Amino acid sequence: MQNILQIIYLISSVTFILGLKFLGNPATARKGNLIAAGGMILAIFATIFLYTTETGEHLGNLGFIFGGLIIGTIIGWMIAKKVKMTAMPQMVSFFNGMGGACAALISMIEFRHLVSSGHYETASAGTLITIFAGLVIGTVSFSGSIIAYGKLEEKIKDFSLPAGQFINIGLLISLLGLSALMISGNIENTSVFYIILVLSVLYGVLFVFPIGGADMPVVISLLNSFTGVAAACGGFLYSNNVMLIGGILVGSAGTLLTVVMCKSMNRSLTNVLIGNFGGSNATAAATSTTFVGSIKEVTKSDAAIMMKYAKKVIIVPGYGLAVAQAQHVVHELEELLEKNDVTVKYAIHPVAGRMPGHMNVLLAESNVSYDKLVEMEEVNPEFATTDVVLVIGANDVVNPAAKTDPSSPIYGMPILDVENAATVIVMKRSMKAGYAGIENELFYKPKTSMLFGDAKKSLSELVSEIKSLG
Ligand code: TAP
Repeated sequence: MQNILQIIYLISSVTFILGLKFLGNPATARKGNLIAAGGMILAIFATIFLYTTETGEHLGNLGFIFGGLIIGTIIGWMIAKKVKMTAMPQMVSFFNGMGGACAALISMIEFRHLVSSGHYETASAGTLITIFAGLVIGTVSFSGSIIAYGKLEEKIKDFSLPAGQFINIGLLISLLGLSALMISGNIENTSVFYIILVLSVLYGVLFVFPIGGADMPVVISLLNSFTGVAAACGGFLYSNNVMLIGGILVGSAGTLLTVVMCKSMNRSLTNVLIGNFGGSNATAAATSTTFVGSIKEVTKSDAAIMMKYAKKVIIVPGYGLAVAQAQHVVHELEELLEKNDVTVKYAIHPVAGRMPGHMNVLLAESNVSYDKLVEMEEVNPEFATTDVVLVIGANDVVNPAAKTDPSSPIYGMPILDVENAATVIVMKRSMKAGYAGIENELFYKPKTSMLFGDAKKSLSELVSEIKSLG
């Protein structure tokens, strides 16, 4: 029976790896998600029905297990069904927090188990390290993710304690020191375990609290990798291969994503860890910026003429495209322009929108061909040979302050160099700031014209105007 279980675990692990592979491309992402979810269901049911203890007993408490599974599935299903595409990062953050809490609970249960059975003193260092690592990492992931959820939902404002970085470093050192003393047996007081739990909650809260502006995606991805590592600790504890492999996959994928995002935003990972990242002070400094010059508006008919008679148009999609749900009409515009011999491409910034790959997923929904989506490094040199750039609901990812203003919270983040094109048309509803809460000098540049209004409505009218030009 146990051999069959191990084979099923192996199959499930392979589905996770295949799932990740398929998730790497918008065309196969849905399939990848289903394959990995299928593997997870297989692993769960195999554990429930095939796992036996050393004394040959099957899992008990089936009523509780199935009760939990049913309630959790209904709640998760309802939340995921209801969530708007633009609120996806909050949901990911919340679910990630639940994963961290589960990993921490495993550590708590196993610790109590060891203490109450009198096996704590004789437990191996490996077991204790895994219990304490699962507790600290899982709890930090839980409390940090819940704060990140609250911030993304705009229920919690940025907040930083004076000398917050030093408090965070102090907390980290205390967590490591106390855990080491407990593992080595130099402290035998079991209540220190719960002190470590409280300090971990505090660290998660304090390290995510001050993070503001455009930096949240990096933190969410980092917390995601924490949950993966904490789950892998559970896999070690129970010698459960599928839990171990699943956790390691989440941990390493999250870490890679964090590194890629840090690179795309030109941030250092050390600063993320001590909570010195973006933040309310930098935002406040930058929001007070005012620019010389005035903005210029363009009518839809003029914009239509510019685009219809252009040789090359690059569309820059941003968060506003997702809010307006204008992905279908932008595809219609692209096809119409191509029919008029205009070359059209989409410039994809790595953190445009509110989640990794947001723009790719959105445009895939309207069947935009993938070869038209060009990544930032590749498209930036192309702007110089572009007649019209159409910025649709994007703001931070085209903000020149990232290159010119060292006091800006987005300073150092690579941006799309739209200014190099002959003309820039910006579609948005008002002069309001984007996610980072800062003004954008691009809107005041002589080459830039603003086309105010909801992106979907403006694009539909633009399409009609171009059609009416014959
Ligand atoms: P933002 O800087 O957030 O700007 C979006 C713009 O869209 C806003 O200025 C808004 O202006 C406009 N807009 C909103 N609704 C609209 C509508 N219905 N029609 C037309 N325009 C509309 O977006 P971005 O340039 O895509 O940058 C993304 C930001 O989010 C970055 O700062 C990034 O770091 C952050 N972030 C990214 C992620 C990931 S992983 N992608 C996750 C979390 C946060 P109006 O209100 O004037 O219309």
